[in-house]
Amino acid sequence: MKKQVKKAIIPVAGFGTRLLPVTKSVPKELLPLVDVPAIQVIVEECIASGIEEVVLITGRGKGGIADHFDYNYELERLLEERGKFELLEKVRDISSMIRTVSIRQKKPLGLGHAVLCAKDVVGDEPFLVLLPDDIITSTYVPVTRQMLDVYDKYGEAVVSVMEVPQEDVSRYGIVAGEQWSEGLYRVRTLIEKPDISFAPSNMAIIGRYLLPPVVFDYLQETKPGIDGEVQLTDALARLSRERALIGYEFKGDRHDIGDKLGFLTANISIGLQREDIGPELRKFLKSLDL
Ligand code: G1P
Repeated sequence: MKKQVKKAIIPVAGFGTRLLPVTKSVPKELLPLVDVPAIQVIVEECIASGIEEVVLITGRGKGGIADHFDYNYELERLLEERGKFELLEKVRDISSMIRTVSIRQKKPLGLGHAVLCAKDVVGDEPFLVLLPDDIITSTYVPVTRQMLDVYDKYGEAVVSVMEVPQEDVSRYGIVAGEQWSEGLYRVRTLIEKPDISFAPSNMAIIGRYLLPPVVFDYLQETKPGIDGEVQLTDALARLSRERALIGYEFKGDRHDIGDKLGFLTANISIGLQREDIGPELRKFLKSLDL
């Protein structure tokens, strides 16, 4: 029988160079989507999808991320003394929301290497990888849940994909394969950040993966690829050849919050969905005479 997916790896060691200068001192994963740090939005997606433990792969200067999910007794006492019970509950909820484990990636050797750092904690179980730059809002169910549903049905590894403009293909891992059903592809080829002239399609990998533990073995044997980094995409190319990999066109809107414009569109999109500020924000946007 297929093993249940209980753990999610969230790599948070990246430098966030596209958002400098703010990321010089603030980890991009702690930048807010309205008033919630991006990392919490990602963790909440895991919880809403039934995941029990998240493994944060951290790096230099990222200590604040683990702190965010820890208890903060001084703050709790202050809120209690001031009678701010609603806020107190909010703050406590974050600390108890899910089991978190932090692992330090000591050198920035690439996404594949970051995932490999979680090998011992994940063990012999299928696992998820969520890239926190990719915020996906969905009025349907969370993308991670959509992927788990595909896995429950077919029992194979799943990678989320989306069509991107041809001129953007060299910014992504690109997949190609045969479509066998609505939104589902049997992946045959994967290339990390191909040159436009070599891209096998314009179907890009977006940061949600559901993978079998054999991927750790593949990663151990994966040589540095493009940019001199160990690429997860290269290990998945082997997975698609030796086993199977499903490309799943998810339902939802994706924002790349590692990018200035994507960070703003994510904030607007999430802000519009919020009951407390959504109506006023909508009014404001309509009032802009663009
Ligand atoms: C990573 C992956 C790439 C994927 C992208 C999605 O690249 O390596 O395959 O398409 O995330 O956001 P990065 O954006 O970290 O360079």
